[in-house]
Amino acid sequence: MEMLKSYLDAAIEIAQEAGKILREEMERPPTISHKAEFDLVTQADRRSEALIVGRLQKYFPEHSVAAEEGTGKETSSEYRWHVDPLDGTTNFAHAYPCFCVSMALARKNELLLGVIYNPIYNELFTAARGEGAFFNGKKIHCSKIDALKNSLLCTGFPNHNRESNPNFHFYWDFTLRSHGVRRDGSAALDLASVAMGRFDSFWEFGLNPWDTAGGVVLVEEAGGKVTDVQGQPYVLGGPSILASNGLIHEEMLKVTAEVSGHTLSQK
Ligand code: IPD
Ligand code: CA
Ligand code: CA
Repeated sequence: MEMLKSYLDAAIEIAQEAGKILREEMERPPTISHKAEFDLVTQADRRSEALIVGRLQKYFPEHSVAAEEGTGKETSSEYRWHVDPLDGTTNFAHAYPCFCVSMALARKNELLLGVIYNPIYNELFTAARGEGAFFNGKKIHCSKIDALKNSLLCTGFPNHNRESNPNFHFYWDFTLRSHGVRRDGSAALDLASVAMGRFDSFWEFGLNPWDTAGGVVLVEEAGGKVTDVQGQPYVLGGPSILASNGLIHEEMLKVTAEVSGHTLSQK
């Protein structure tokens, strides 16, 4: 318990310092390069990752670190940090202030804590297993909306294999059945928004462990539910994720089953 608190405190300190770097970089013209045609990386991603990985290695030299830009390291420890140094790079590159630092710590397959920080709005989301979820230090809970027709949803579209992504079908259907579907461009913040009740559910295909790890802990600790779009337990880096306030989860799953049926029968 004490240990978990000290890991969480370290993650908060590091995420906030990395956030300072992102704020600084926002003041300069972005230095954009491409990992793939629509997959961007900037100096901000690299500087933020260097700070986070360096600090984690200093504080916890025995832990593994899996970081998006590839500078982490593998050890034999049971503990692994999942790090997205800048989630929402496309937003960052266009000066749309919806991006964050996302960090999570797992022991074997169990996610222990998550920290997500939006440095522009100074919004800090934190959660530790069994201890609840917090927004700028205040306890948060998922929304109480219990019908899809009254819900506000969120989704995302990856930057790779865009043509083969099935999500346009889901997006269309959920748009007609809810108050609306937002597409904010930062999976970590999308999940944090489910945890604090801004969105009632979020789903996406093709996300990586560093995109979702922190947000999954937040949603679960805020009383929500996380599975894949078929209702199976969510596995980090699995093909899909569906996170919700728990109350509309079954209804969401009915729609994903229907849409998957249509999409397959069209092929
Ligand atoms: C992306 C964001 C986006 C999601 C993409 C991710 P990045 O992460 O989370 O919302 O739709 O699939 O790749 O590249 O900005 O860290
Ligand atoms: Ca990401
Ligand atoms: Ca990233």
